[in-house]
Amino acid sequence: EIHGEIESLLGRMSIQDKLGQMSQCIASNFSFGAYVASAPPEQLVAEGKVGSILGAFDSSRVFVLQKTAVEQSPHKIPLLFNADIIHGHQTIFPVPLGWSCSWDLEAIKQACAIASKEATASGITYNHGPMVDVTRDARWGRVVEGAGEDPYLGSLIAKAQVEGFQGDSLFSEETLIACLKHFIAYGAAESGRDYNTVDISEGTLRNVYLPPFQAGLEAGAGSVMNAFNIYQGVPVAGSSYLLKDILRDELGFDGMLISDYGSIDEIQIHGAAKDAEGAAKMAIDATMDIEMVTRLYYDRLPRLVEEGVVKEAQLDAAVRRILTYKFKIGIMDDPYRYIRPEKEIEYHFHSDHLKKSRELAQKSIVLLKNNGVLPLTRKKKIAVIGPFAASKDLLGPWQFSKYGNDTVTLLQGLMESGIDPENLLYAEGCGVNSSIEGGMDRAVALAQNADVVILALGENSAMSGEAASRADITLPDVQQQLAEAIVNLGKPTIMVLTNGRPLVLDWFDRHVDAIVETWFLGSQAGNAIADVLLGDYNPSGKLTMCFPHKVGQSPLYYNHFNTGRPRNEANKSRKFVSKYLDTPNEPLYPFGYGLSYTTFTYSDIQLDKVQLSRTDKLNISVIVTNTGDYAGEEIVQLYIQDLYGSTVRPVKELKGFEKIELKPGESSEVQFTITEEDLKFYTANRRYEAEAGDFKVYVGPSSQVVKEASFELI
Ligand code: IFM
Repeated sequence: EIHGEIESLLGRMSIQDKLGQMSQCIASNFSFGAYVASAPPEQLVAEGKVGSILGAFDSSRVFVLQKTAVEQSPHKIPLLFNADIIHGHQTIFPVPLGWSCSWDLEAIKQACAIASKEATASGITYNHGPMVDVTRDARWGRVVEGAGEDPYLGSLIAKAQVEGFQGDSLFSEETLIACLKHFIAYGAAESGRDYNTVDISEGTLRNVYLPPFQAGLEAGAGSVMNAFNIYQGVPVAGSSYLLKDILRDELGFDGMLISDYGSIDEIQIHGAAKDAEGAAKMAIDATMDIEMVTRLYYDRLPRLVEEGVVKEAQLDAAVRRILTYKFKIGIMDDPYRYIRPEKEIEYHFHSDHLKKSRELAQKSIVLLKNNGVLPLTRKKKIAVIGPFAASKDLLGPWQFSKYGNDTVTLLQGLMESGIDPENLLYAEGCGVNSSIEGGMDRAVALAQNADVVILALGENSAMSGEAASRADITLPDVQQQLAEAIVNLGKPTIMVLTNGRPLVLDWFDRHVDAIVETWFLGSQAGNAIADVLLGDYNPSGKLTMCFPHKVGQSPLYYNHFNTGRPRNEANKSRKFVSKYLDTPNEPLYPFGYGLSYTTFTYSDIQLDKVQLSRTDKLNISVIVTNTGDYAGEEIVQLYIQDLYGSTVRPVKELKGFEKIELKPGESSEVQFTITEEDLKFYTANRRYEAEAGDFKVYVGPSSQVVKEASFELI
């Protein structure tokens, strides 16, 4: 039925009408680089020159534009409303790098469902998320938007996010179309500089960067957005190999492919097309359906179609995909169904949503160091010092909440936790990047009167995210100076970090008593941090990106190859091994690492066989015991190493995990199963297959501290 309606509509549409559906403009008047919008959005909508709008964040704006489309545009086709709902709409959750450290797929899914519920009430229908890029280089600002360095965990989180955003049905008024971005290998930008060249092997593309996209597609994501980078010398926005051959034909994606902001135009700037016509042709040949912001399609394709260089059937295919989604979400029959101002009032910043945000924030915190100073008792005199002590800049990049002022600061969180206000002292000390006149002296004087100091340091939200790469991933000098002045006092010092990427923390690891990694935790940040500092929540988060000792180790990731000269205990002082003269090869804090207030011990690994056939499964088990004094959660991790192959294999790859909760003294048996499927990779034969041979199994609390066993795949 939908098919018939789409074909009849297509039959009535001119080439320009079709290109209108394939073009997107921004909700406000704007210019972007050399590009200046030819007309205000209302006019473009009324003339049928756009089919979707980016960045209309409230129902009143959405309503005006939708009404214009439905009443004035040539075919009265309703608009899609796109926005970046990355970690919440009005209630803000932890940034995705933060929530990935919870390894809690259900909680992440719920956060996305809440984001959808709030955003759709405002009339937003199409999300520019989730970001499922694997991120291995902490210099890259966009690591804050992803799930970290691991393809396996990244795939599970991609699936959870798509399921959360899209729910059971796209027809529901409370679900958003999810868009997997940025296809593909954006995270491999050389030297971590945003938009920089990518030059990686096909094996790495397929074994590392592709799996989260595959998982998101299997979960039914309705859209994909291209990456800005090149692959094999061709900008992805115009790469038929990546978009058509791999994404459409091999992976079977038949949803809407949207170009990232200006990236069709940038094909020329990359130097892969002579002019705008050439760029537009490459993009349409690669099956790109929607052009975000720029208007190469609308302005250039008519002539190319007339000349027969581009077939009208190519436009039809794109418009068919776009209209299919407009039908699927129900706006073709009921254009205003998402726009519900009464639900905005009911849902936005709802107390249930804030509760979920606080819970996920607690789970996202990673305790990096603790010499016993934590948890704090409420009786101590606590000095809270630093630019993030009373800051509301705890939401992170990619959020547009109107409730920024209601963000719970660290100081507020501590005050609300029942600490006697007399026992809570505060000094800002310095700004994030600048000193404050007399600030340091006041902070030192205040700290002298305290039993314990909380140093609230970090990066502001503009220091990570898009176009926010850093070549130096230490804390700004002024904060380092403040920390040194405080540490010199010799008081117990706890560092609470707010930031969007792994930082170089060597000095802090040596000099402070505890380090609490809090990322940007969202609307309830201060409450969640206080919960952890005071032991009301026992931290359970585990890192999803390695923290380097020095920036020169970047990119740094646990699942690296062995090299022909791996450094080890026996050869570490020899010259001709793969190592640095001045820094360990290993990270300061590895992938999978995170402490608890309790301790866990692991038994040896039990395997039910040492030879695995293609039709069988291998059962792996270990017993984990809580040997400390607190009840706590542990994320038990399973890694596999394929010892040799037709192409070299990583030294370790995550293949499973389980989050368990144990009371003091309690033990639990954790079981995993492995089949041939788990051992497949993109081999030298250019196929996904598992190769016979020897494997190691590792189980433990991080990618570094593990028990091991062996088996053979026959
Ligand atoms: O969605 C984003 C994308 O991730 C980066 N460029 C801008 C887009 C705006 O929606």
